[in-house]
Amino acid sequence: MITTAKFKKLHSQIEFLPGMTPEQFAQQIWLELQTSKVVQTIGVDQNLSRNEFWDRVSENVGDCMLLSEDPVTGERIGEKWLEIRYDSSIQNAYRHSKNAQPLHTDGSYVGDSPYISFFFCINQAEKGGATVFLDSDDLIALLKDQDPALLDDLCQTTVCFAKDKDFKRRPIIDFDEFGSNLNFNYYCVDPKETDFAKELVERFHHFLQTEVVAANKAYPIKLKPGEAVFFHDDRLIHGRNSFEATKDSERFFWKSALKLKPSYS
Ligand SMILES: [Fe+2]
Repeated sequence: MITTAKFKKLHSQIEFLPGMTPEQFAQQIWLELQTSKVVQTIGVDQNLSRNEFWDRVSENVGDCMLLSEDPVTGERIGEKWLEIRYDSSIQNAYRHSKNAQPLHTDGSYVGDSPYISFFFCINQAEKGGATVFLDSDDLIALLKDQDPALLDDLCQTTVCFAKDKDFKRRPIIDFDEFGSNLNFNYYCVDPKETDFAKELVERFHHFLQTEVVAANKAYPIKLKPGEAVFFHDDRLIHGRNSFEATKDSERFFWKSALKLKPSYS
């Protein structure tokens, strides 16, 4: 097991200062992502437009990906931005509901991953709605302590997650030269998987729900309008707390994904 860590911390903040260009801001985000798994940005005027500001910032942090999906069919529609927006008229989609979302990695079924997920906030619910994160190393330490047999199975069993025409097959917990990495979405296990793999997904989901979410072990970040987070999707697991909303769009984020530039010039 290789434990050389590139990452020094789970969460850090970058402040957008008056007079800074989007390119300078992007450089700071890129630099911080070299050592932090989650980079939160603060201080951006919430009225700055998505196309003029966040496109310029994100395109300077890395190569943006076209992973946006139709909320009903789950089909990829070839667009960069995807809305995470409370909408009472769209059923059975976490991105339009106010329910808590179980812990997962965004790229579980994306063959061209890992990548950086990011989103910025247009509106935030008054009560609830924080995004919650757990570092992959902290998750492994918790499993080692509370259910070492589950940890062994998660490291040794190849599991395929699939959606639309895309899929990925690998152990749920794996290791590389930068440390531990994860791949998991309870709802996207390939229906053709073995009974053992399906049972493993159930066991892990139960562990996450009881020992992490219900035990308040995940780290909450509640974005305010104008704020954003960029995170290394496979170096942590994330979800969402439930929230209260009575009007559509009361909680509203724009989300996308990118491949981090290998260097910044
Ligand atoms: Fe997500």
